[in-house]
Amino acid sequence: MKIIAIETSCDETSAAVVEDGRHLLSNIVASQVEIHARYGGVVPEIASRAHTEALSGTVLQALSQAQCTLDDIEAIAVTNTPGLIGALLTGVSFAKGLAYSSGKPLVAVHHIRSHVAANYLAHPTLEPPFYALVVSGGHTSILAVDSYTSYRTIGVTRDDAAGEALDKAARVLGLPYPGGASMDKLAFEGDSNAISFPEAHVSGAPFDFSFSGMKTAVINYTHKLESRKVEIDDKLRADIAASYMRTLSATVADRLEALIKQNEKRNIVLAGGVAASKYLRNVLAEVCERGGVGFYYPPIKLCGDNAAMVASQAYYECIAGSRAGMNLNAYATSEADLSFKNE
Ligand code: KG4
Ligand code: ZN
Repeated sequence: MKIIAIETSCDETSAAVVEDGRHLLSNIVASQVEIHARYGGVVPEIASRAHTEALSGTVLQALSQAQCTLDDIEAIAVTNTPGLIGALLTGVSFAKGLAYSSGKPLVAVHHIRSHVAANYLAHPTLEPPFYALVVSGGHTSILAVDSYTSYRTIGVTRDDAAGEALDKAARVLGLPYPGGASMDKLAFEGDSNAISFPEAHVSGAPFDFSFSGMKTAVINYTHKLESRKVEIDDKLRADIAASYMRTLSATVADRLEALIKQNEKRNIVLAGGVAASKYLRNVLAEVCERGGVGFYYPPIKLCGDNAAMVASQAYYECIAGSRAGMNLNAYATSEADLSFKNE
């Protein structure tokens, strides 16, 4: 079963064709990073307009690279939550139009579920149940994936996402947007014990995250240096990045270690834009090895937002009977509600 998927939840316009949830036939990603870089972050209205301009071409390219036409496609999938509401609506409206005009079924996909599904494309034998750690620019969650379509939330961030905390630190260090990849690279060049940043715990919720404290700490740290007229040279910048990355990774690793100790043995699946971090992968790989559980993550090109992961998850939603109607809407938030259903 070939599915075409559309992803426009944030700043990447993407369309992809995937067969039977596992075989990637095409994955076109039109990135808006350059457009938003000059503002130091995603400007929602500009993102929506850029999606509208890019969508038709991206979908046509995805079909042509997959060497098929709409006639070969059995369902049309789209991300409808969570994300920037205007951006999501461009994809949802386009997908509804495509489904209506072609008479093909429409399937709505939860963005966080699709990030997890990136691993199905990369690891042919990976199957639920497992625990997933979704670490991206907008989300940080620990999930019990009991089946392809049955998710339970074990922990979420109470404030900022890990990627947001990385992007903010990168910004105060003068690194270009989005800064996660630069922070990750720099972290290998500095002394990770040079500076102490706070690792937050949420009382009564051992699997929840909080990254706002460390984000504020790095802002205060650099402001203090500025007020003392201390220049942030390459060595100091690398030390800050390394120390910050160590704290962020330890925050995630501590929860993962507790999860492995306190629960039945399940594989651990990492996903989301920050899953591209070599530093984080190394730290988490050690935790999984110590805990005696398998550790999976997608290749870098499937970590960030892309439609291939949406098409993969859509296959499993589809064979479980999920169909969306022409009344399908987009929703900006629904992080806690992974029990989400097609309407
Ligand atoms: O999943 P994603 O593309 O978008 C959301 O759904 O939020 O994640 C984007 C985040 C950004 O914060 C970006 O800085 C971060 O992923 N990121 C990285 C790396 N590449 C992208 N963080 C750490 N290391 C990387 N190599
Ligand atoms: Zn994402």
